[in-house]
Amino acid sequence: MAQITTLAEFITERQHEFTYATGELSQLLTSFRLAGKMVNREVNKAGLAEDILGAQGSQNIQGEAQQKLDVYANDLFLRLLKSQGMVCAVASEENDDIVHFDNGGKYVVTMDPLDGSSNIDVNVSIGTIFSIYRRLSEGAKATMDDFMQPGSAQVAAGYIIYGSSTMLVYTTGHGVNGFTLDPSIGTFCLSHPNMQTPAEGKIYSVNEGNYFEFSDGVRNYIDDCKRQLMSARYIGSLVADFHRNLLKGGIYLYPATKKAPKGKLRLLYEANTLAMIVEQAGGMATDGTTRILDLKPTELHQRCPLYIGSKAMVEKAMSAGK
Ligand code: AHG
Ligand code: MN
Ligand code: MN
Repeated sequence: MAQITTLAEFITERQHEFTYATGELSQLLTSFRLAGKMVNREVNKAGLAEDILGAQGSQNIQGEAQQKLDVYANDLFLRLLKSQGMVCAVASEENDDIVHFDNGGKYVVTMDPLDGSSNIDVNVSIGTIFSIYRRLSEGAKATMDDFMQPGSAQVAAGYIIYGSSTMLVYTTGHGVNGFTLDPSIGTFCLSHPNMQTPAEGKIYSVNEGNYFEFSDGVRNYIDDCKRQLMSARYIGSLVADFHRNLLKGGIYLYPATKKAPKGKLRLLYEANTLAMIVEQAGGMATDGTTRILDLKPTELHQRCPLYIGSKAMVEKAMSAGK
């Protein structure tokens, strides 16, 4: 029988790769591991429990209707991160401002607690996206500058996908590893060691409903994908679209549109996280001109265009856009 490595064992084995103190990464990731299992439990009973499906009746700062599971997942991650004591403050998609814990913790977290949440009610894969940064400031309270670091400063980045199985994928800058939740024992087990994305792929993922809103360059690129008989695949959950393309090879693009010149996706807790992961897996992520990880954030909920996936495809999309 093949050897089974649990996520907890793996983190301990690899903790020497983490630049900071021994054991810190393990503690940091524990909240995500645990919250991931709890969100997974709620997601799986979404069709049964009346208080899980549907809209919360409120909106987040971006004017999007919050789903009940958005709020549940956000509260849960915040509660676990706070109780664990190493994270000083969190920037979440679901909170207008920084959530401060004022505990002097050495790290800050950015997160999209539930990504693709409009897909919850229709039984389609959703996810959680998170990034961990070392704080720049000192003292009890974190500052805005702690969150305005470029993506290249991330000390860890990861996502959880609640799909036909639930997986946690993360990197600390030493490759990417994926763990699948065995629901019978409630444990994430190493299933995808040292993930590498193919340099070239046959999938393009874009919301083509926006086709006439895109620039000529982007439209030309999409037309070219069709001429090459590539497969169009678009779930509408970034984590799920990204995860499929990471494994199979492909490009995901959410370009600028006439209505949204900065695109839709958020730099701090969508683009940066997945950019670090894709680069660690041999792929590429840009905003059309600049490497995502080099962008200097100026706002918490800043948006940016995103071209991410197999290197050759992202390079081609970039040159088509010029
Ligand atoms: P969220 O559910 O966290 O607000 O994110 C939704 C995002 C992302 O998951 C997805 O790729 C994208 O919105 C889809 O946007 P369109 O519906 O405009 O294609
Ligand atoms: Mn999202
Ligand atoms: Mn979300």
